[in-house]
Amino acid sequence: PQQGPFRGQHIVITAGPTREPIDPVRYLSNHSSGKMGYALAAQARRLGARVTLVSGPTQLAAPEGVQRVDVESAEEMLEAVQAAVTDADVFIACAAVADYRLATVAEQKIKKSADRTQLELVRNPDILATVATSDNAPLCIGFAAETQEVAHYAEDKLKRKKLAMIAANDVSDSSIGFNSDANAMTLFWHDAQGQLQQKDLPRAAKSHIAEAILRQLAQLQSHTRAS
Ligand code: C5P
Repeated sequence: PQQGPFRGQHIVITAGPTREPIDPVRYLSNHSSGKMGYALAAQARRLGARVTLVSGPTQLAAPEGVQRVDVESAEEMLEAVQAAVTDADVFIACAAVADYRLATVAEQKIKKSADRTQLELVRNPDILATVATSDNAPLCIGFAAETQEVAHYAEDKLKRKKLAMIAANDVSDSSIGFNSDANAMTLFWHDAQGQLQQKDLPRAAKSHIAEAILRQLAQLQSHTRAS
């Protein structure tokens, strides 16, 4: 049996990019490697949780003891997450979900003809906000990639998306994040008095950052239970 602060808990984590199909051979996506989400899944397992990792396409192997559900598009990710969170204690949205998808996916490969053409895009569902604002929502953690006013946007997102914690990274520093094995983040949450708290996690391996995020989460949970 697993030991640790999350023993008996179910933690659902999204990771990686999404792929939004254009036609049978093409898609829109981004450079997310999935490393941060996979590191969180491995550490959550190590700290005793039952873990479901809903993953977009990545090059990574599922961490041992973690149940991985493979998805491609944002809509598929939302569906898989909604199925997984019904009994979840915690939901961590680490995926780089495409903000838009194609308004219509072409059934056949699109042929080149005109010198200029356009793709019509429509907004994708916000998976984190959908889960966080649902009835019996688990405790939700979001990630934020900002280039300026990190604290301001983090507090706004905490409130707007009804989150327990935000992990923000400054994406203007290209030596961290995305395909890197290291990361540096600032965690934001509200204490029992409703005051914004923050903790800087200096540059470290993603496995270390993941553990620090989860330890902070465990502390938050113990306060929530005590109050
Ligand atoms: O609003 P923004 O995209 O900056 O929020 C980022 C956070 O929301 C991340 O935790 C990301 O995983 C989550 N998200 C999501 N579904 C979306 C967009 C973002 O779950 N469609």
